[in-house]
Order: sequence, then C-alpha cells, then structure tokens
Amino acid sequence: MVPEDGLVPQHTISKACATLEDQAPSRQRTSHERPSPLLCTTPQQSVASEQCIASEQCSSLSQAKQLTTSQQPIAVEQCPTADPDAATEHKTHPEEHASESDLGFDSDSDPPPGPSQRTRFHESSQSTRKRIEQTLHLAIVVGKDQDPVVSAEWLQEVGEDMLQSDAAVGKYIALKHPHIKVTILKPRLGDITKLAEKLQGCDAIHILESEQFLGQHNYKNYRTMFEVLHRLGPRLVPSLSTMQYIMTKVDYINLMDQHNVPHVPTFVLERPTEFKKFEKSIRQMVDWIQGLDPVPLHIITKPSHSGSKLHFQKWFVAGLRQNSVAFATALRRLFVHSQKPFVLVQPFIQGLADLEYRLFFVNRAFVSCVSTQWRVTSAGKADMKRCNVDDKALLPILQSVAQRIVDVLPADSVMYRVDMFKHEGRWAVNEIEMVDGDMMPEFHDDDSDIIQRVADAIVKLPVPVLGLPSAKSLLPVIDSQPELDVTAEQWRSVAGIVKTGLKDVERLPENLRDDQRGPLQEWIDILPQLLDVKDMKELCEEWGLEPKGTKRELAAAVGHRLMQEEETRACAPPPKKKPRTRKEGDAAAPADDSGAEDETRASALPPKKKPRTRKKSDAAAPAGKANTVNRGAKPFP
Ligand SMILES: Nc1ncnc2c1ncn2[C@@H]1O[C@H](COP(=O)(O)OP(=O)(O)O)[C@@H](O)[C@H]1O
Ligand SMILES: [Mg+2]
Repeated sequence: MVPEDGLVPQHTISKACATLEDQAPSRQRTSHERPSPLLCTTPQQSVASEQCIASEQCSSLSQAKQLTTSQQPIAVEQCPTADPDAATEHKTHPEEHASESDLGFDSDSDPPPGPSQRTRFHESSQSTRKRIEQTLHLAIVVGKDQDPVVSAEWLQEVGEDMLQSDAAVGKYIALKHPHIKVTILKPRLGDITKLAEKLQGCDAIHILESEQFLGQHNYKNYRTMFEVLHRLGPRLVPSLSTMQYIMTKVDYINLMDQHNVPHVPTFVLERPTEFKKFEKSIRQMVDWIQGLDPVPLHIITKPSHSGSKLHFQKWFVAGLRQNSVAFATALRRLFVHSQKPFVLVQPFIQGLADLEYRLFFVNRAFVSCVSTQWRVTSAGKADMKRCNVDDKALLPILQSVAQRIVDVLPADSVMYRVDMFKHEGRWAVNEIEMVDGDMMPEFHDDDSDIIQRVADAIVKLPVPVLGLPSAKSLLPVIDSQPELDVTAEQWRSVAGIVKTGLKDVERLPENLRDDQRGPLQEWIDILPQLLDVKDMKELCEEWGLEPKGTKRELAAAVGHRLMQEEETRACAPPPKKKPRTRKEGDAAAPADDSGAEDETRASALPPKKKPRTRKKSDAAAPAGKANTVNRGAKPFP
C-alpha cells in the first residue's frame, strides 16, 4: 500500500511487498539456512536485494498475527528516511512515538493492528512530512520500574525528561527507526497470563528484565512466566532458553568452570526430588565446606533465581553445628516455599561483599563499567550505590577477564553484564546478567550511551533468532517438575547431617573480617606466650566477651579485641593539642605521630597485663590492620 501523499520512495518495503505479494507466494526458508539480515539494513543496498528481503519479510509479517510457530525470519528494510544519522536531526511529533500500553491497564488499548494497518509520520531533513509504513512490530516488555534514565539529550526529542531505562530503549528505537512500531509493555504480576494476548500482533518481542514485574523473585511465578513466554515461540529475542540459562546462575557458573574463568567456588544443592539423593548432596556439601583451604569463616547461601540480594544468607561456619536446624529451615524455605530449583553455597568473600564492578557488553564488545556497593539506609534497608569508575587503568584489566566468558555466552542476547570483584589480588566473576537497568548514562562515559547501543543492537537482531547459538539451560523450558514432599522429620535429618558431619572448627570471633584473619592468626600464636589462660579469661570478662574455649580460642577473642581497638584508634582524629610557643630547633623535632604510635602499641594490652617477658617473636605482632596473609583460599579455578 503506497501512502496517499506519495512521498515514500518507489522502492520502499510497502511497495516491494505489494508487488511481490501479488506476484509470488512467499518463499519458505529451509531450516538450515541462517536467518538473513536483520531488522534493519543499510539504505545503500541495491533494490534487488531489498526486494528479496522484502518478500521474506512479507511472508513473515503475514503470519505474525497468528501466535507464530513459524521458523521464518523477518527481515525488514530500513526506509531511507529512517537513517539513524539523518533522523537525529529530525523532529518527530511526540504523539507519533512508541505506542505504550501498560498491562497494568492504566491505559488499556486494543490489540495492536496488523502490519498492513501500521503507518507513522516522519519528517525528513527538509521538514517534509512523510508517511512511513511500519513494517515491523516490536514489543519491549519492561521488567521493573526503577532505574530512571536521566540527562540523555535525545529524551527531549520524545518529549520526556526521565524514563525507565528499558522503556528508554523502546523509545529510542521508535525515534530512530520509524519503520518499526514499538509497543512498550509494563506487565505486572497478575498479568502474566494476559501477556501473550497483548503480544499477538507483534513480530518480535524483546524482554529486557522480567524478574521484578513478572516473577517477583518467586519461582512459582517464573514457572508461569516461562509457560507464557514459551507460547510466544521464536519471536522472543533473546530466546527463552537463553533467558533461563542466564537466570539460573548455575548454568553460567558451569560455563566458567569449563573455560577456566575465575569465579566464586560454588557447591550447588538441587531441589529435592528424591530424599536419599538430597541427603547425599547435603553430606557432600559438608565435606566440600571442610575441604576448602582454609575453611571459610563464613559461608553464604543464595537461591539460583534471585535478584537484589533477596534470600541471601550468611552463616558462621564455627556456629553451623549449633545452627544446623536454622540452616535446614532456610533450605526448606527456599526449596519448598519459594520453589527455587537450586541453592548455591559459597564461601563468604569480603571483597565481593564490599565492592563489585559491573561491566556492560553490547554484541560482545565492552561498552562501559560502573562500580556498585551495598549500603544500609537509615531505614535499615539494603540499598545499592552506583558510581562511575574513575580509575580508567582498571578497565582493561577487568575487561580481559570478563571478555573470556562473554565470548562464550549465547549469541542471541545483545547485551550482557558481568559483575566482578577482587579477592586476594585477583579479579573474578560473581554474576552474569543478560540485561539490566543500570544503563543510566550518568554512570557511564558520555560517549558510551548504553541505551542507544543496546537499542541499535536489538534492531539488528534477526527475528526470529534462529541461527544464532542460544543456550541449553539445566532446567527444561517448561519446568513442571513435581515437588517432593519432604516431611518435617526428613528436614530434621538434614539438620542432623550438618550437625554431625561438620567437624569442630576452631572458633574464631564471629564478626571477624576476612582481611583480619591473617593478623589474628599471628595474635593467636603470640598471646599464649605472653598471657596465661587465667589472664586471658579475666580480659575477656572485662571486655564483655565469653571467657570460654581453648587457649587458642581465648587468644583469638583477646587478639580480635585488641585489633579492633587499634583500628578505632587509627580512625580517630588526632587529639587536639595546646598550642605551644615555638622554640628554636622545633623544626627538627620528630613528628608527633611517631610518639603516639609507640604509645598505642604499648597500650595495646592493659597496663596490668603487660607481657611478662618480651620475646623476639613479639616484633612480628600485627599492627592492627595489617596485610592479609594469603592463605590461598584457593577459591578461583
Ligand atoms: N560469596 C559471596 N560472598 C560475599 N558476598 C556475596 C557472595 N555472593 C553474593 N554476595 C553478595 O550478595 C549480593 C547478591 O548476590 P548475587 O550473586 O549478585 O545475586 P543477585 O544479584 O541475583 O541477588 C552481591 O552483590 C554481594 O554483595
Ligand atoms: Mg548481583
């Protein structure tokens, strides 16, 4: 259908479609053929090739209204007027931008029209209004409502000051690629099953982040979501199996293992399907913890499918025997109540808890990086602080590690985020995400507007993504595995295995940080030579610590307290001194600090309890926040 105003060039898609549809039935692509080109090709292409592409596109589009099971690729020719570079100069009418419907039904809309009914006005650089046939209908399903995008200049072109980042991707596509009709959907939890209905007329469906709205981090909802998404068939980009692969955590950890990419050592507990098998894996987990060198002070448990640190739990290993019932109860909650398919057990790594770097890759190329830190707000909630990374020298180092895993990740996602951290001087990967709202331009360098990069990459994806390697997750796409009914008695037996299986671990103070472990070890060696058990017990009582345990455990308690005091002193502002009259020779006087430091050391132990005999080895006594002794936590393969 040629627009009435006749302003669209003769070889546009609409013209080509009309002609070819009349003349020949659409050609079916054989399954081994790679889907050719992409949603968008360059305007420089020859008319002949445009027509060929258009014929394929017509056949796909004509099938697009049926919930497609078609294996047909959709290739859409970009109208010359939609040249992204030219379009940046254009002003389009705000009401002509991405249509937006909210599955929350704030603004309910009819099912989207079929391809033949889609048109849109676009203005050329000569300010001539052009009617552009919208040849592809792309849906962007938004997964969460945080992550506003601010300060992107192009937002003004769509009449917005601020947008949620996933929605911004959709708006950007609509702005720069007027031949693509974009529908932005913001489904809410109760709307999962209505999703497929809303997406009926769409040719391609991109789900950027589905966990919050669709899943609410509950695997029961994920199951429904997977079922619904499965019905959308190959129109889904990235594919459902790739989405599951990245959501499952365990899949990419296995991949990192295969490719020797440093990551957190992980023991995976699988949801109980057979109780004997589950018991066995609990035993193996206990052995695995005890086999770590050194046995970690703390371990953590976290579910395979999660986000925002939800259900993350930290366990003091020396207290795990006493807490075995709480541990089993936590597993029960994750497996039975939240129906998580896997629970990951890992050593607690201080460096990971303290600071992470999120590296963004678009089409496997590094784009930018933000650093993140968890904080506790005044309201007691965990909150993530994001910062730009000023130390640019760090980026190639991080990137070289992350690139190794990015290169082997499934190809049908345009974007990956790799979360990294430092442990004992080495960089390693914690997590991989497919998409995320951390795309706010202010956290990235000006020349790397990740929204635009992601949007342009999505537009270039073949639809469907056949031919691009997707991934095979451990979990079936339709995960209908029945739950095993583990009885309360059986859960008690799980606790029993933890209690009896764990050997006594030397009890170190529960709030000891990993980086304090080395210096504390030195205190543990030295203190029993300086103080007897009675002295150490007295000190413990004086300081409100439990005066119990072996000689080494008492030394650990006393040593830790001394280290804490030294750290506090080191952080305290220097005491105010009375100004004194400056005398001759003052310039040569030693700095006040050195005297103060001597005093600090001397007062490390209370005066009465000063060491009776000072030995040679005393010189090695740690000075508070000393270097971490590398005990080769050997976590990283
Ligand atoms: N092994 C670990 N040691 C220390 N902290 C961890 C560990 N695993 C996760 N964390 C902390 O929990 C947060 C959430 O865990 P993560 O694996 O990123 O899952 P998700 O982001 O899906 O909730 C991390 O950002 C980190 O602060
Ligand atoms: Mg994370």
